[in-house]
Amino acid sequence: MHLIPLTDAPAFQALRRHYDDASDWHMRDLFSHQPERFSRMSLDAAGLFLDYSKNRLDDTTLSLLMELARERHVEEHRDAMFAGEKINTTEGRSVLHTALRAPRDRKLVVNGQEVMQEVHAVLDHVGEFAERVRSGKWLGRSSRPITDIVNIGIGGSDLGPEMVCRALRSRAKQGLNLHFVANVDGHDLDAVLAKLDPDTTLFVVASKTFTTRETMLNAQSARDWFLQTGNEAELAKHFVAVSTNAKAVAEFGIDTENMFPFWDWVGGRYSVWSAIGLPVALAIGIDGFREFLAGAHEMDRHFRTAPLERNMPVILGMLGVWYRNFFQCGSLSIAPYHQDLAQFPAYLQQLDMESNGKQVSMIGNPVDIATGPLVWGDVGTNGQHAYFQLLHLGTDMVPVDFIAALKPTHVLPVHHAVLLANCFAQSEALMRGKDAAEVRAELASQGITDDELAALLPHKVFPGNRPSNTILMDQLTPPTLGALIALYEHKVFVQGVVWGINSFDQWGVELGKVLAKNIEPEINGSLRPEAHDSSTNGLIARAKAALGK
Ligand code: F6P
Repeated sequence: MHLIPLTDAPAFQALRRHYDDASDWHMRDLFSHQPERFSRMSLDAAGLFLDYSKNRLDDTTLSLLMELARERHVEEHRDAMFAGEKINTTEGRSVLHTALRAPRDRKLVVNGQEVMQEVHAVLDHVGEFAERVRSGKWLGRSSRPITDIVNIGIGGSDLGPEMVCRALRSRAKQGLNLHFVANVDGHDLDAVLAKLDPDTTLFVVASKTFTTRETMLNAQSARDWFLQTGNEAELAKHFVAVSTNAKAVAEFGIDTENMFPFWDWVGGRYSVWSAIGLPVALAIGIDGFREFLAGAHEMDRHFRTAPLERNMPVILGMLGVWYRNFFQCGSLSIAPYHQDLAQFPAYLQQLDMESNGKQVSMIGNPVDIATGPLVWGDVGTNGQHAYFQLLHLGTDMVPVDFIAALKPTHVLPVHHAVLLANCFAQSEALMRGKDAAEVRAELASQGITDDELAALLPHKVFPGNRPSNTILMDQLTPPTLGALIALYEHKVFVQGVVWGINSFDQWGVELGKVLAKNIEPEINGSLRPEAHDSSTNGLIARAKAALGK
């Protein structure tokens, strides 16, 4: 499928003309002219409800956006992904995280090999192992059950399992404590190890490549810590690995019997569905993990079969294109109104920014248009008391995705109505704002002087017309969380297709890795500093002096 530059696409040009009008509309007027706007611009899929009515668009905008999706062959690219075609062209790989959540009886051949049996064999192995640990049958070196699991991994080998374990903590087995160590900063591992007893601790070394410097150093230090009080023969009871690299796992000293494999067609940021999700299975049990996979599969089914106009990931993706390429919005804020989703913005940051932070097209030409936005955010209501000021009154327009569960999993009923009221109030405030007449009437009723009123008025006017989506679920459960993650995966995919980029490589992380490898021995003093620029040389010199090297 050879794509013409996006800006040459007829639907893109039609959208440009349409934008000239649409950019002047105020959502307050759109709502008053279209009383049924909420029911027209909302939909249910896979246990999620999306309200996208608080966006700066009308029916024409939507149909032009869908026309653009068709012109960019979103459906054909989607089908190619699900069929296992090598759509990750720069790495020559298929992109099949969706296979990890497909049912056992599905047939899928990749590189001439049937993969579904293997996928389910690993899942069964994950399940058996998780149940042995959870039931206390897996014993450590002193014949005591495991009480603490430490996942050592970074990026996709950390963010997914950590975010999901946090999100589903209300379902987690009590007495089995999960810890996540990602950072090469020794403060991270040190603080975790200080709390642990090696006799009852299990380390999960999670790395697709098993070469990532941070993970390998943390794993080595954890191994050294363990060996201070034990011997190599006992390692097998306390170290397991999740990786695609059996050779490196064996070289590290982990019994490959205790290695949970996955495959090169699973990208790191898409790997929580694979054995990388082992901590999730340990926390909530294999049945819960299977429900999580089933929720994602339900979203896959929706994405594959729903017409574009009623397709949740496509709608979210195309709205993102509308704001990024026409309104020039450079960022997207994620506002989960659920404390257990506290790490969801950070998770989406990797998913979206590592996928769509690209400046050349699939065929290596510079793109002619802005691609992925900055993705950031924090839980509500906390964000309201921190950065929402800028969302309401700053000079940039920042679209917001609000995410909430209608029912809590806690037992403090008063809190939930307050939480939801705040969530809905924020999207209302962003949309309608508060005009000068409303502010004037309010100030006048407070009996202040005309001069005081005139001075305050401009500060208290909210322009509104700031877009948001609201995603609701009944409750945050394994299936709804699975569907939510899959929704964003497919949204990012749709945008990557429209922009004509490869959403599945990540060359942007390589240069820093290579340079750090050069600088490390220079800081340690074993190598003479290379001729860097004066800034880098100066920083290295200061570090050497401080560390006495
Ligand atoms: O450096 C980026 C990255 O490659 C991510 O894409 C990946 O999730 C992370 O590093 C960890 O990689 P690995 O699982 O191979 O240790």
